[in-house]
Order: sequence, then structure tokens, then C-alpha cells
Amino acid sequence: MPNELFDLEGEVAVVTGGTRGIGLAIAQAFADAGAAVVPTSRSEDAVDAAVEDVRDRGADSLASPVDVADEDDITTLFDRVESELGGADIVVNNAGFNPDDALGKPEDVSADAFDSVMDVNLRGAFLCSKHAAERLHESGGSVINVASVGGMVGLPRQHPYVASKHGLVGLTRSLALDWAPTVRVNAVAPGYVSTDLTEGLEANDRLRQSIIDRTPIDRFAEPEEIAAPVLFLASDAASFVTGSCLTVDGGWTAQ
Ligand SMILES: NC(=O)c1ccc[n+]([C@@H]2O[C@H](COP(=O)([O-])OP(=O)(O)OC[C@H]3O[C@@H](n4cnc5c(N)ncnc54)[C@H](OP(=O)(O)O)[C@@H]3O)[C@@H](O)[C@H]2O)c1
Repeated sequence: MPNELFDLEGEVAVVTGGTRGIGLAIAQAFADAGAAVVPTSRSEDAVDAAVEDVRDRGADSLASPVDVADEDDITTLFDRVESELGGADIVVNNAGFNPDDALGKPEDVSADAFDSVMDVNLRGAFLCSKHAAERLHESGGSVINVASVGGMVGLPRQHPYVASKHGLVGLTRSLALDWAPTVRVNAVAPGYVSTDLTEGLEANDRLRQSIIDRTPIDRFAEPEEIAAPVLFLASDAASFVTGSCLTVDGGWTAQ
């Protein structure tokens, strides 16, 4: 397989939640593949550090912090990407969270906690895709949504998160239908990955071991192991792939 298929030279990619964990690994992989990359999140300092990281890899970039729960932030981000870098060709909707107040028995989770997860994990991805749409259609671009095994199967005591990730897989399929043949829209569904999001789980020996016992590959993934399949989906190597959700879960959902 020629390496040029994975070359992103000349492309401009926006990665939400691109300042640490899986998102930063995606931003770095895209930069190494030749794209200009805009890694963004809510924290100005973290955005500046991620921008410096991708620039050190030779990529063009721009610092534009965003809260994906805020539509005005999103329009500002894509306006700046348009005026300063020529517009986004690839959008990775990776920003996501699973806060403590959204964990537990469904009868104990408040409406506000439920909404806060939906606003970031699902509505944020919809709005970023929507506000990038015009340029994506002009350039024949691509959207990749970072879902979860929680978007493929149920997980106890994580109802808002699981609902948001199932919604994200549904959004992926529907956008793919509406935007074909011009814009490809796909998702990845990671299993457990060592990041800040899972730090608490990994620190708890019993929980950590129960996750490893359920994972045929027998360990947590590293963020780079999610970034590589995302790079594949963004690249010409995936030119006939749309509406798909690629599980990257060490076999978690195969059983
Ligand atoms: N780690 C796993 O095991 C795992 C498994 C399956 C799926 N995932 C999914 O993968 C994605 C990345 O997870 P991760 O483990 O890398 O998490 P992480 O280390 O906690 O990083 C999350 C990133 O999202 C940003 N973010 C959070 N809320 C945001 C908002 N409202 N607006 C903009 N940016 C926001 C964070 O930056 P700020 O806080 O500075 O905004 C950070 O850059 C998430 O969608 C997660 O659900 C993770």
C-alpha cells in the first residue's frame, strides 16, 4: 500500500479536544502526515501548548480556544480557520467528557447533568459539523467522530455518556447519507485508553483489572493506537468508507 494514500499534505484539520489524550495524539499524527492542524479545547494555555507541539512538527496551526457547548465559540473557530488557513478540510469531533455527576443509577442523575454531557459529546459534534459544512463540501472533506464502545453497547451507570455516544454513531450515519458523495463521515469507537479521562479507573486496581479481563488484547490502549485509525479514516486510503463506525477496542465488543 503506497504511503501517499495516508498523506494529508495540503489539508487543514480541526481537532476538538485536541490538547491532550486521544485528541492530542490525533493532532500529532495529522501534523506528521503533513496537514495544517488546529488542536482546540476550552483552556487557552492548553491550546497554546498543543499549537506549539504541532508547529514543532512542521505543521501550520492557529490557536482558537473553543467550548463546543457554545455555538458562538464554534462559529468564531471556523471563521478564523477559514480566514487564516483557508478553511477546514477535516473535522475531528473528539471533545468529550463523562463527569462524576452523570455517573450512577439513572434515578440519581439530574436533568442538568444529562444535558451537560449531551451538549458537549453530541450537540457539540453536530454543531462543529454543521458550521464546517460549507467548506467541507467545497473541498470534498471528511468528518470523524470519536465515539466509544459506549456507543455500540450499553454500560451500566453511565447513561448520559452511553446515550450521547450512541447518538454520535447515529449522527455519523445520518450525516454520511446527507453529505454523500462529497463529504465522508465516519466514527471510531475506542475501548479503554490511558488518558486523563480514565485516570481514576486505572488507579483503582479492581476496576482496572476487570477492564483488562474483559479486553481480549489484555490491556488499555495508548492514545496513538486510536490516532492511527483516525488518520486512516481521514486519508485517501479510506476513500470508499463513509457512514462506518470502526471499533478500536482490543476486541471488547467482539464477545
Ligand atoms: N479514554 C478512553 O478510554 C476513551 C474511550 C472511548 C472514547 N473516548 C472518547 O475520546 C475522546 C477523548 O477522550 P480522552 O480520553 O482523550 O479525554 P481527555 O484526556 O479528558 O481529553 C478531553 C479533551 O476534550 C477537551 N474538552 C472537554 N470538554 C470540552 C468542551 N466542552 N469543549 C472543548 N473541548 C473540551 C479537553 O480539554 P479542556 O478540558 O481544556 O476543554 C481535552 O482536550 C472523548 O470523546 C471520549 O469520550 C475515550
